[in-house]
Amino acid sequence: MLLEKMLQSQGFGSRKHCQQLIKNGAVTIHGEVISNPKFKLDLNELTYSVYGQTWQYREKVYIALNKPQGYECSHQSTHHFSVFDLFDDVLLNRGLQCVGRLDQDTTGLLILTDDGQFLQALTHPKKHVPKVYQMQTVDPINTEQMAQLESGVELRNEKGIFAATDVKALAESKLQMTVHQGVYHQVKRMLAAVGNKVESLHRAQIGQLRLSQLAEGEWIYLTEAQILAAKNTPETLVDI
Ligand code: URA
Repeated sequence: MLLEKMLQSQGFGSRKHCQQLIKNGAVTIHGEVISNPKFKLDLNELTYSVYGQTWQYREKVYIALNKPQGYECSHQSTHHFSVFDLFDDVLLNRGLQCVGRLDQDTTGLLILTDDGQFLQALTHPKKHVPKVYQMQTVDPINTEQMAQLESGVELRNEKGIFAATDVKALAESKLQMTVHQGVYHQVKRMLAAVGNKVESLHRAQIGQLRLSQLAEGEWIYLTEAQILAAKNTPETLVDI
C-alpha cells in the first residue's frame, strides 16, 4: 500500500493532508524519514511514527474501555463528557463507535470499534451476547426479587419477557446478574420491575471478556483472542 493511502486509512486526514505530512518530513518508518508519499509499504506488523508519536498499522480497531462515571456514549454529549473525549482525533477520524451503550452514570466494560460488521455481530438482537452487570441497590435484595429476575419481567413498550441468568447476591444490597438483550436502561428497568432501584451500575463482562486489571478511564487495543472472547466464542473467560 502507498504510504499516503495507509496514513489516510489510519485517520490522519485527507489524502492531500497525508501527502503534506509526508513531504514535511513528519513520518518515519524504523527511524528513517520517508518523504515520498508514493512509498510502497508492507503492512504486516508495520509500525511508523508521525511527529514522533509511534503507531501500529491496524486494519480495524477494537478497543476496550473501563468507562468512568459521568461520560456519555454519544458524540454530541450535552450535559456530560463524551467517552470519545478519551481518544485521540486520529482514532476518532476512523469512525470509532460504541458497541452498545452504557448510561452516563454506569461504569465498566465498553467496547469501541470502527468495524461495522463486528458492531452488528455484538449488538444484533438475535445474537444474545451475555453481559454481566454488578449493581448496588437502594433496598436490600430479597430472594423473591432474585427469583422474579430469573423468571423474567415485562418492560413497558418492549416486546417479550426479560429474564436474567446467574443472579447472585454479592452483599445485602449488591447484586450480580447476566442479561442477554440490550434494550434501553434494561438493568435499571428490570430492577424497578421487581420493586427495587439501582443505585450504581457496573458492567463487568461482555461475552467471555471480563474486566479485571484495567483501571477506570483506561483503555487497551483488543487482541484477536480478546475479540473472540467478546463475541462469546471460546468457553473460557479472558481477563483484561
Ligand atoms: N442497563 C442499564 O440500565 N444501564 C446501562 O448503562 C446498561 C444496562
